[in-house]
Amino acid sequence: MKILLAGGAGYIGSHTALALLNSGHDVVIADNYYNASPEAVRRVEKLTGKPVTLYEADVQDRDAMMKIFKENDIDCVIHFAGLKAVGESVKKPLFYYRNNIDTTLTLLECMEATGVKNFVFSSSATVYGAENAIPYVETMHRGSCSNPYGWTKYMMEQILTDAVAADPDMNLVLLRYFNPIGAHESGMIGEDPKGIPNNLMPYISQVAVGKLDHLTIFGNDYDTPDGTCRRDYIHVMDLAEGHVKAVEYIADHPGTNIFNLGTGTPYSVLEIVKAFEKANDLKIKYEFGPRRAGDLPEFWANADKAKKVLGWTATRTLEDMCRDSWNWQKQNPNGYRD
Ligand code: UD1
Repeated sequence: MKILLAGGAGYIGSHTALALLNSGHDVVIADNYYNASPEAVRRVEKLTGKPVTLYEADVQDRDAMMKIFKENDIDCVIHFAGLKAVGESVKKPLFYYRNNIDTTLTLLECMEATGVKNFVFSSSATVYGAENAIPYVETMHRGSCSNPYGWTKYMMEQILTDAVAADPDMNLVLLRYFNPIGAHESGMIGEDPKGIPNNLMPYISQVAVGKLDHLTIFGNDYDTPDGTCRRDYIHVMDLAEGHVKAVEYIADHPGTNIFNLGTGTPYSVLEIVKAFEKANDLKIKYEFGPRRAGDLPEFWANADKAKKVLGWTATRTLEDMCRDSWNWQKQNPNGYRD
């Protein structure tokens, strides 16, 4: 199949491009490089020995996107072109709503105009909200999100579900990611956040490489086994392979199908720090600080549905995630700017 990856030069998009190419699919990428780099795509081409059709384009821009749809015979769209920093979304909510909602509407309008029927969406466990019991199951109601970023995912899911309900020929897969970390085992592609990282694993990696002095662990007084928050961390290559399964499933399965992509096993912040130290034989300086606003004490996936229906399961261990994150960071201390 020929797959359009909107926002495909970013962290999850680039790893998914690699997995799709290695499974024999063709890849077209549209990205404005806001939080991504064309160098990631060049490295994907190098790793796979296969070409990617790459456009510098803002996915909100209907004219630019129509040109891409007309120039390529697209079978399926995967939408990664979302802003995703929780704290920034609280400070700049309109920026988040404008980008995340408009990119979704533009893609749907271009698909309608050109007859493309398959849409895979990069959603998040954040849509379950605080009220649901753990582990999260796809059939649970979507809860109250704790920040504008989360609400954009909630709203994008709604827009897509309504669009698909109105067109019996359209197919939609919502992939709800848990906490993706790690990098391709080559260390050639990985996560390259702008400025000081918000997320745990890039922060730890930058402490390890000496760019940041120490990690602050946000709270050690939660009602969890060691007092720090627990999450379902998943290797980005497992996540990427989940997208390949979704793309190969979607065309024969009308309507909306939802899958959690997680491992089903939670780890605490302290366990992540210890695992990173052990896997890479180094020390991470850390201290405990106050809780971060909006953080839930713990959540993880029930990943049974993806296993049963897609035949997908995460196979990489926490040690793999820690080793591969460090391998990428130490080879690329300044990300793609090296
Ligand atoms: C958040 C979003 C999630 C999004 C993900 C990636 C919510 C509720 N969660 O997940 O939807 O997909 O970011 O963008 O919207 N931590 C520290 N010190 C740090 C950084 C993090 O202790 O410097 C802790 C956090 O308190 C948390 C854990 O590490 O317990 C993971 O944090 P993070 O990587 O930011 O991901 P989430 O907040 O779980």
